Amino acid sequence: MRIPKHASKMFCGTILVGSLAFTSCENQTFNTEINLIPEPSEMSISSGIFKIDSAGLLGSTPSKQVRFQIDPNLSEISVEGYTLKVDREGVELTARTEAGLFYGKQTLLQLLTPDGLPFVQITDSPRFAYRGLHLDVSRHFFPKEEVMKILNAMAYYKLNTLHLHLTDAAGWRIQIDKYPKLTSEASHRTQSDWREWWDKGTDRKYLKEGTPGAYGGYYTKDDIRDILAYAKEKHVNVIPEIEFPGHSEEVFVAYPELCCAGKPYTSSDFCIGNPKSFQFMEDVLTEVMELFPSVYIHVGGDEASKAAWKKCPKCQALMKKEGLKDVNELQSYMIHHADEFLTSKGRKMIGWDEIMEGGLSPQATVMSWRGESAGFRTARMGQDVVMTPGNYMYLDFYQADPRKQPFAIGGYTPIRKVYSYNPLPKDSLSAEEAKHILGVQANTWTEYITTPEHLEYMMFPRALAVAEIGWTPQEKRDWQDFKPRVNAQIPVLRKMGLNPYPLSYELDFSMDVDTLDKKITVYLDAEKYPAEIHYTTDGSIPTQASPVYKDGILVKDSADIRAAIFEQGQMMGEPSEKRIDYHRGIGKSIHFNNRLYPGYMAGGEQALLDGYRGGLTYLDGRWQGYTDNLDCVIDMGMPTPIHSVSIRCMQLTGPWVYQPLEVELLTSEDGKEYVSQGVIPTTISPDDAMLNFQTYAFTGNWQARYIQLKAKNQKGFIFTDEIVIW
Ligand code: ACM
Repeated sequence: MRIPKHASKMFCGTILVGSLAFTSCENQTFNTEINLIPEPSEMSISSGIFKIDSAGLLGSTPSKQVRFQIDPNLSEISVEGYTLKVDREGVELTARTEAGLFYGKQTLLQLLTPDGLPFVQITDSPRFAYRGLHLDVSRHFFPKEEVMKILNAMAYYKLNTLHLHLTDAAGWRIQIDKYPKLTSEASHRTQSDWREWWDKGTDRKYLKEGTPGAYGGYYTKDDIRDILAYAKEKHVNVIPEIEFPGHSEEVFVAYPELCCAGKPYTSSDFCIGNPKSFQFMEDVLTEVMELFPSVYIHVGGDEASKAAWKKCPKCQALMKKEGLKDVNELQSYMIHHADEFLTSKGRKMIGWDEIMEGGLSPQATVMSWRGESAGFRTARMGQDVVMTPGNYMYLDFYQADPRKQPFAIGGYTPIRKVYSYNPLPKDSLSAEEAKHILGVQANTWTEYITTPEHLEYMMFPRALAVAEIGWTPQEKRDWQDFKPRVNAQIPVLRKMGLNPYPLSYELDFSMDVDTLDKKITVYLDAEKYPAEIHYTTDGSIPTQASPVYKDGILVKDSADIRAAIFEQGQMMGEPSEKRIDYHRGIGKSIHFNNRLYPGYMAGGEQALLDGYRGGLTYLDGRWQGYTDNLDCVIDMGMPTPIHSVSIRCMQLTGPWVYQPLEVELLTSEDGKEYVSQGVIPTTISPDDAMLNFQTYAFTGNWQARYIQLKAKNQKGFIFTDEIVIW
């Protein structure tokens, strides 16, 4: 909820308490914009302001006007919840626990304006107990001060869990006394930029600590203690992750005997047939548990190659001895061991959803990252889950047009998309199963994030959307309501010393295709708030004099929409554009001669003739992907004069989406004899790694009932969104 400034007459009374002056004022003009994130579960606002500053609010001077109290017997307040009342008498904040009181104080800090505190009554408690961010400090190392900066911001928005990805092939990042070579030999590497080192590196090497020019770093035990002490103050639990059995190349540089070949640079996976691997795991986890009070200890489990185990005599012997039927069960054997070990120490094991393969160990908690289905399956099995699906919760994905952003791993999760995620949709699980959805987490992998500034740019403000997903009741969440609040937080984040993404001037297009009235309504949405949008429909650059967007643009045939945000008469950024056609192919039947790829049949078989165009990501439900040549035939129902046919394709080489080598158009009157009307080759190199689009447009004068399009696959996927026929 966002309450605007209000104005009327003044009534103030001043009370002196110690050295602090409190003035309660009703009906006066004050800046009382309320931009709380996360939105509280219940809040009512009344007119008036209690005059106080931050020193008065959080200072040590006891005062009758500011009462903070903890009452463990208040069963109606949840563990992290609180109640808060601000009125002419002052401030009354009540909680059951220290954490609840802390969150109430964060709310007060967010409510505080230069004029004081608005009169509010709040009863608040989180939707989920687990509200997390993950940070990869292996691919690039971030000093403890940066971790603390992130913890500070997390707490302000009531996020309560930081998952630190401490080990991976790119470098081991935590001191372990029993295995000193992990940090002396496996925490530094030849190149600082992971992309240079890993993606392009033909001579990828680790270097000993202290080697001149080596890039790397790690947290000493004292650094970890400092981080944990700070996190405790901020009521954030820090979960350490130590990767087993995959993502561990760096370990074998220091201790080669722990991989199957016994040599460095040969494998990413621990040798599970070697008892020393189990000893290592127990020893490392023991030192980790000595440092981290977290009940949850993360053991990775993702993306093990498993290849070496198939040929390794030790692994094969163990599989035979234990009756393990495949390498999935072998991985599961090691993860079960970790689970038993951690459980015996009073901790809980958590791992990526691959730990389900080969049999989930009985106490394990799963992080569902490859979509949501593993999470729901786990909950149905009666085990706990943290939802962190890649399509919504990966903050290393692009947050705006990839062509205009710093290089990222791929994907496209603007804050609107992040915010749209609901970890527990209504009716997805029974009430009993739903209790196993502990909450939500967003992950920031840092392969392409080299500096603290870039890290903050990727994490914030998207992390604020995660905070609200985790805290606020689903029925109270609304993107249009969140938007002004998150805009208002950008300067707040900057004051915290962070470098947030300032939100995009790009516009989001959505469409409503009406096949009865044969029209398309186009809707525009901005992340920026407020946003004065001007648009054109003839492809020209919009100006301040162009029409102002209100609530939809109606298109009966074709339009080249260009739209932009204007501030003080100036166009901000570049116009966003979208071609719209209510064309003659819409609703006609289509037959595919090629095999369809079920995972990428967005919108079903009719999607290429439904009028809906895709956006910047092939995952937006409008793009269709094919692993073969695309070969489809459209039946216009009767011989029809045709003068143009076009098809648009996307290229994004990271996830193997390529332009077709060429597209051919054929026409037929009877569905038997086809005449080629031409071939258009791609003009884009397969080496062009930047997101790009090509429209293959054929024009002519044909009489045809059947229209055939053949697009030749060169590698990976062909992705296309619409065949436009005029
Ligand atoms: C992951 O993204 N490999 C968990």
